Amino acid sequence: MIRMSLHDRLEEIPASGIRRLFELANRYRDVISLGIGEPDFDTPEHIKEYAKEALDRGLTHYTPNNGLKELRDAISEKLKKENSIIADPDKEIIVTTGGNQAFLLIWASFLKEGDEVLIPSPHFVTYSATVRLAGGVPVEVPLTMENGFRLIADDLQVRLTERTRAIILNSPNNPTGAVLTEKEVRAAVDFAEANDLIVVSDEVYESLIYDCLRHVSPASVASEPGRVITVSSFSKTYAMTGWRIGYAAGPEELISRMVKFQMYLSACPTSFAQYAAARALSDPRSQIAVSQMRSEYM
Ligand SMILES: Cc1ncc(COP(=O)(O)O)c(C=O)c1O
Repeated sequence: MIRMSLHDRLEEIPASGIRRLFELANRYRDVISLGIGEPDFDTPEHIKEYAKEALDRGLTHYTPNNGLKELRDAISEKLKKENSIIADPDKEIIVTTGGNQAFLLIWASFLKEGDEVLIPSPHFVTYSATVRLAGGVPVEVPLTMENGFRLIADDLQVRLTERTRAIILNSPNNPTGAVLTEKEVRAAVDFAEANDLIVVSDEVYESLIYDCLRHVSPASVASEPGRVITVSSFSKTYAMTGWRIGYAAGPEELISRMVKFQMYLSACPTSFAQYAAARALSDPRSQIAVSQMRSEYM
């Protein structure tokens, strides 16, 4: 097997087309950018106030590599209450620099050279690039408009090889907008369990669901603990894209390797943004703000 350096892998990956459009649209005044998942709203006022409060209190220093304890506790509570996921805040949760950062951390902590990852496609731009950077091989599982971009078990089965290690689920999906039903989530998790794969579940759009559909977290239906890594973020839910606060919850063994890697990447996400995010989760005004934004999107 040919071993490649990180430099060589980076050379092989094309620059993000969606970012190119974003930069281009930014140069004109009257262009509406449809290119990047940017909320139409400013961050709710009370969350901004919490960040100011953190600055005034001098919370301007490094935090632990896995994130502020206060934030991990709040995330653990949120996961229990809203997603039926039990995650130990000290061992099974890491705060990341946006949900985006979680993917490279996950693949670098889990994949070995040549390991394959099933990725339902079209898909969010980061998935295949980070799998490749980590030495893995992205295997696309095409979804079609004709069947409403549903994930079909047979389509997964035919792409399974002895190198397959993981599958990505993204519901609600960017870019298709499809929301997996509980039955589909269970089928995908069953498939992963039957074939000893991990599931990486990207749930950053979990709050933006319409038409009486319901978000089901794969980790909540898995029969074995540690099978699913849940990735989520404050970006879309609270209109906080520029704050760069996301998180991942999963088995201790994997999370601890991600924390180790985080030390050499950014050490930690921004301290006062973490503080405000922790407060946002426990402030009832946040859910009101989310409902208002959701109604406006509808
Ligand atoms: C499907 C999906 N996952 C993850 C992300 C990452 O978001 P962030 O890094 O802002 O949390 C995005 C951003 O657009 C996305 O669309």
